[in-house]
Amino acid sequence: MFDMLARQPDDPLLALIGLFRKDERPGKIDLGVGVYRDETGATPIFRAVKAAEKALLETQETKSYIGPEGDAAYLDRLWSLVAGTETGRAVAGVQTPGGSGALRLAADLLHGMGVRRILLGLPSWPNHASIFKAAGLEIVPYPFFDIPSQAVLFNRMIEALEGAGAGDAVLLHASCHNPSGGVLTLEQWREIAEIVERRGLLPLIDLAYQGFGRGLEEDVAGLRSLLAAVPEALVAVSSSKSFGLYRERTGAIYAVARTQALADTVRSNLASLARISYSMPPDHGAAVVRGILEDDTLKADWMRELDGMRARIRAIRQALAAGLKSRWPALAAMAGQEGMFSLLPLSEEQVLRLRADHGIYMPTSGRINIAGLKTSDVDAVVSRFIAL
Ligand SMILES: Cc1ncc(COP(=O)(O)O)c(C=O)c1O
Repeated sequence: MFDMLARQPDDPLLALIGLFRKDERPGKIDLGVGVYRDETGATPIFRAVKAAEKALLETQETKSYIGPEGDAAYLDRLWSLVAGTETGRAVAGVQTPGGSGALRLAADLLHGMGVRRILLGLPSWPNHASIFKAAGLEIVPYPFFDIPSQAVLFNRMIEALEGAGAGDAVLLHASCHNPSGGVLTLEQWREIAEIVERRGLLPLIDLAYQGFGRGLEEDVAGLRSLLAAVPEALVAVSSSKSFGLYRERTGAIYAVARTQALADTVRSNLASLARISYSMPPDHGAAVVRGILEDDTLKADWMRELDGMRARIRAIRQALAAGLKSRWPALAAMAGQEGMFSLLPLSEEQVLRLRADHGIYMPTSGRINIAGLKTSDVDAVVSRFIAL
């Protein structure tokens, strides 16, 4: 019966990893894969993660099952980081295998409660649409970002929200928009919150890069203002980037509700969806995050290292923007964008030419991972782009 299956295309980003590996040129540069890299090109393990792992190795007494909700202490600590300590809001969380697991549980929950449509600003992280479709939701796309002018299309976003029906869900990136780096101001977040509340929409906020944009607090300021203004929301958190735990599959989904009883009901539904899907989330990454957040010294060290990563990303951003604006004036805006990604106005042919002629790898969408660049490579890469 297996011959009834059609072969699925490789994920373009994962295929790019394979192509990059096969390239034997010593000066090749990977601007594709969405992981942080340091000045040596490595994706480091945080010092605090190593220390927390060491402590865990010495103190952990069992590996018995932990339950579909995961680790309550991890969920509490992480929520304080996201929402602050005094939100005054009823909340319930479930630990998930990464941010992807959180988004899938959220999508399954939405579908199960009768939500049929989810608004999605494009371009977005490609897995958003795939996850929502797999859960049976209809995607309502709207244009969010214009590549040639590097502008967030806020008016189009507002139009889309105003055109949505009560009971529709809306996906929002908390900050560090993937793939555009486009920024929403706090004033714009307030406007979004007002429409979401007035039109009875349910926001699903994706927070995958806290600390990679302007700062740990700054990167959740919009999210917090929205949570304060709407009756209900879902927040999907990934610990993959902020704690460098990518392969440990560490994340959480939170429901903010009108009452604690409602929040607890949502939790029980999320836990039951987890149970029939993967039963329980992996423990290690969450235990490490909890270990860091419960220890003031480790937490301070984690924050210091995260500050350094953010400073590096921002410095490369400035240098790229300064270099590229002579050919594409709109790319001056890259300096003010957030997070690891930006979208270059390149044709597929130009992207493939950079790959073939110079060993510079990026997806054909023109999305680049700023953190894939070493400071010493910026000038050479800029001149390759400008010569296209
Ligand atoms: C916008 C966005 N959301 C969610 C995720 C999910 O991350 P993970 O499942 O690795 O935690 C990613 C990862 O690249 C992302 O870019």
